[in-house]
Amino acid sequence: MASTVISPFALFSLPKTCQFRKKKPLGFVSKRAVSCKANSGKENKDESSSSLSGFDRRDVLLGLGSLYGATNLVADPFALAAPIFAPDLSQCGDANVPLRKSPGTNVSVHCCPPVSTNIIDFKPPRFTKTRTRKPAHLVSPDYVEKFQEAITRMKALDEKDPRSFTQQAKVHCAYCNSAYEQMGFPSQDLQVHNSWLFFPFHRLYLYFFERILGKLIDDPHFALPFWNWDHPDGMTIPDMYVDLDSPLYDAKRNPDHQPPVLVDLDYSSDKNLSRDDQIKANLCVMKSQMVQGTTTTTLFHGKEYRMGYSPDPGAGTIENGIHLSLHKWVGDPRQPLKEDMGNFYSAGYDPLFYAHHANLDRMWNLWKTELKVPHCDFKDTDWLDSSFLFYDENANLVRVRVGDCIDTKTLGYDYQQVELQWLDYECDPTPTTTGKAKNPLPATRNAFPILLDKLVRVDVPRMKKSRNVVGEEDGGEEVVILQDIQLDRDSSVKFDVCINVTDDKKPIAPGHSEFVGSFTNIPHGHHHHGSKLNTHLSLPISNALKALQLEDEAKVVVTLVPREGEGLVSVGNIKIGCIRD
Ligand code: C2O
Repeated sequence: MASTVISPFALFSLPKTCQFRKKKPLGFVSKRAVSCKANSGKENKDESSSSLSGFDRRDVLLGLGSLYGATNLVADPFALAAPIFAPDLSQCGDANVPLRKSPGTNVSVHCCPPVSTNIIDFKPPRFTKTRTRKPAHLVSPDYVEKFQEAITRMKALDEKDPRSFTQQAKVHCAYCNSAYEQMGFPSQDLQVHNSWLFFPFHRLYLYFFERILGKLIDDPHFALPFWNWDHPDGMTIPDMYVDLDSPLYDAKRNPDHQPPVLVDLDYSSDKNLSRDDQIKANLCVMKSQMVQGTTTTTLFHGKEYRMGYSPDPGAGTIENGIHLSLHKWVGDPRQPLKEDMGNFYSAGYDPLFYAHHANLDRMWNLWKTELKVPHCDFKDTDWLDSSFLFYDENANLVRVRVGDCIDTKTLGYDYQQVELQWLDYECDPTPTTTGKAKNPLPATRNAFPILLDKLVRVDVPRMKKSRNVVGEEDGGEEVVILQDIQLDRDSSVKFDVCINVTDDKKPIAPGHSEFVGSFTNIPHGHHHHGSKLNTHLSLPISNALKALQLEDEAKVVVTLVPREGEGLVSVGNIKIGCIRD
């Protein structure tokens, strides 16, 4: 069956947001920026997405989807969109994991959970005390002992118990290597990465993992630690995970990245920077991604992914950036598929995975509360009503909605506050002399698709009306959109994206004005769609345009710099658009 052609950037082709915005008076603070009312989606329906009022859109979709398949929805995908529903566990199939060394060959991995027909709708439990997740490098010896005990007990459970460590690890494989299909759309994989499901799925996954551990040691207040890789003191693998005798240890990690080696938040290969330089570089990656790279909700969370959509519509900045860099950095290059952390099917087998994702989950909270402009989550009911299935601490199968997890306090936990050095960090100045960026190096290519076998530069026109109105405080953002990025799912790829580079010899790094972001892939399996990944990436450029004094220019020269996997990835088109949400 042909795959769906619902365009994930249909919204970008009508740049209605930047066009009509007027300049705001100096000192204007938009209301939208300061009122992020929590919205669980239950009472407050999003008007724009309820165009089928009077119907239950789910019924319409389920009917259409199962009768005719997704392709019939192309005519008006937005009118008929609906949330991605929790999968039918009885339809779970083996995940296919492509073998890196023998292209075209796949191994089947069984990662389906036990089936239960008794599904309970999640209700946030009552609790008396908020569980505080602490930085892994700051916890007490008593805590480490308790945590180890809990993991030991989880590993000792019968493998068939859905709460056992193996089954917990398989949860990631099943949702991330496409063992499930979308309900009513058997031709479409259910994939929680590369879309707006990334943060909520992983939040809930960790929530149940934590509750199970607490139950196993009979401590309802037990909280997971977080790997505080955004703070200089947390930039190595935390000690408790590298003790050979600990249940938190995993042998399948890169042996060259053990403490005291510092993490590289922008990893593609070892750079061997001095300690100080690595810390500076990491703080600049944090600033570039968390402060400058996530100015809108879509840039943070990733693109919309509704029922019937092809998987991988596009990841948010943090998901595609720091998140994948650290998976790669920890994974073991000696293993055939860079297990454990270097491949989605195996990542959950490394206890460090949960500490890494706890810090990513913390980033979601920080993004909403700690940045200069407070950000809001989507109010779209298709996001809020998307749902997943997890086994809880009592081994009951629970259906949880995204809307159930947008506030960690209702889930009973929070994060210890830690100094955020990256928030106001001053990165080294850009190598470009002021004003020079108006005369960049010329384009080297003018036809698409572009195979990225070497550095390429492309002219990209800007939309007329967006000039001079970008970068305002109401959240509008001009973006470079890389469309139809295609690559084999099993390839490791990274390339950087810069604008108006004036000198090829001087390396441009995160924190420099010309640098606007990167694209990263780590190997992961699939079920349908052959072995190609087709995805999209939007990178904000308002800051860069301002810093380089390019606000009035009619075009920019976009440079793509391959850093890993030269010749393995192609880009279908590059456009400039504007997004507000
Ligand atoms: Cu589901 Cu870090 O990935």
